[in-house]
Amino acid sequence: MRAKKKRQGRLVVVSNRLPYAFQLGADGRIRAEPASGGLVTALRPVLRDRGGMWIGWGGSSAPARSIATALATAGKEAGYSLAAVPLGEEQVRDFYLGFSNEIVWPLFHDLPSLCNFEPRYWRTYCAVNAKYARAVHARAESRDLVWVHDYHLMNLAEELRALGNRSRLAFFLHIPFPAPDIFLKLPWRQTLLRALLRFDLVGFQTARDRRNFVACVRAMAPEVRMVGRGNVVRARSASGTTRIGSFPISIDYGAFRRRAAEPDVAEKALELHRLLPKRKLVLGVDRLDYTKGIPERLRAFQHLLARHPDMRGRVSLIQVVVPSREDIPQYHQLRTQIEQLVGQINGAYARPGEWVPVWYEYRSLSRIELLAYYRAADIALITPLKDGMNLVAKEYCACSIEEDCVLILSEFAGAAAQLKGALLVNPYDVEGVAEALREACEMPAGRRAARMRSMRRSIQRQDVFDWVDGFLREAVRGELPAYPRSRSPGTVEPTEQLPL
Ligand code: ADP
Ligand code: G6P
Repeated sequence: MRAKKKRQGRLVVVSNRLPYAFQLGADGRIRAEPASGGLVTALRPVLRDRGGMWIGWGGSSAPARSIATALATAGKEAGYSLAAVPLGEEQVRDFYLGFSNEIVWPLFHDLPSLCNFEPRYWRTYCAVNAKYARAVHARAESRDLVWVHDYHLMNLAEELRALGNRSRLAFFLHIPFPAPDIFLKLPWRQTLLRALLRFDLVGFQTARDRRNFVACVRAMAPEVRMVGRGNVVRARSASGTTRIGSFPISIDYGAFRRRAAEPDVAEKALELHRLLPKRKLVLGVDRLDYTKGIPERLRAFQHLLARHPDMRGRVSLIQVVVPSREDIPQYHQLRTQIEQLVGQINGAYARPGEWVPVWYEYRSLSRIELLAYYRAADIALITPLKDGMNLVAKEYCACSIEEDCVLILSEFAGAAAQLKGALLVNPYDVEGVAEALREACEMPAGRRAARMRSMRRSIQRQDVFDWVDGFLREAVRGELPAYPRSRSPGTVEPTEQLPL
């Protein structure tokens, strides 16, 4: 008798956001705009490659029914299934803007003074995690791997297990995990920590984040026994075993390198040099976020011009800022602060018709524009105050196909652990960053090439596919065949079918 062939498990990715934000246009039609940020950039090629399902919020308060068609079209193009979890206005305010982005985001980036520990936010966070759990439970079977992403959904395993869900549950945190003295400030610290320990696997960006998490478990959950050493350790308690590891995320290196080499990108990069001739181009590209260190960076650039008059006219900073989380007051204030600083620098040093020190753009760039900026820049100045990884740094290296440029990188970005060829700086040290800029401007070609080549090799070896393979291997621990690589187009589930 022939044995029945077992269906392979699927990969079910869950994140707060889908890779598209569905916006209602003035003409009454729904448009799918690509969502921004590192999570989406990293996961998009993974799901395109393997197939599976992505469950998340459609990014607006548009009624679920009205985005069904746009969701179907976007899913067909993407090549995997999409399922939307609709969030009401209050949920967007208290769960997304509130708990996720006014508490966890600043706290985990070591900025507790920016936290608003509003108790209502926590209640809505729990309710919305339960809502996501119902959406996932309606779809995930026990053979599937449910891979939950980021700080918005740290309670999801707890909620899924409460519903009786028996899928494997893995979690990856895209942002840093703080040291115990910071995490202790969270009023709901123990509940949240124990909720994370309901996952079978919890992954962090760096060894530092993994060590911080383990230190918090030791300090705040004494009933949990830590076992093992090395990159993956185990936490054992009455509710089961959780493996805890670090898995530095990466980019689709080949896709960035190939696309950056195409003639339309090269032409746009040349155009930029024609517009801003006879000078070094320094590039900063970030979402509008106080963790990115944009005002500190502008002050460092200002310091360079003040301290070294010979640099005036020889260097321009192109600062691109992508609009983000505009409904949070701190993000608003940050935009004003950045624009004032740009005005001050240009007001003090610009030579009309000849040289403008800072070229500032507040918008999302198209892919071709972004790649052209990467190719054109002689120096990338990436100075977050703290960052889980920072994919912009890796994208810049991948696109630097002439290998004739310099990366200046904050030592507090997760990427600094891997990109040893960068000039590492402390983003709070305005004078130090200014000196690194000068050093980058004067670095001989041979040194520039050697440093850039070593970083490009390292990113090529450890690209996003390598990251996902490593994570999934650990998630299934050899018990199941690896989750299939599939290039067949996925199906799309309309939102109305959700039992929410
Ligand atoms: P974060 O996830 O905190 O935003 P990352 O550096 O890890 O930071 O990821 C940012 C992502 O957003 C990158 O993939 C980058 O290509 C993209 N991005 C950044 N700036 C722009 C821009 N102006 N236009 C379009 N995409 C951008
Ligand atoms: C970071 C976070 C992501 C988030 C992204 C954009 O990359 O790690 O989870 O999606 O920023 O932020 P937003 O609030 O617009 O989703």
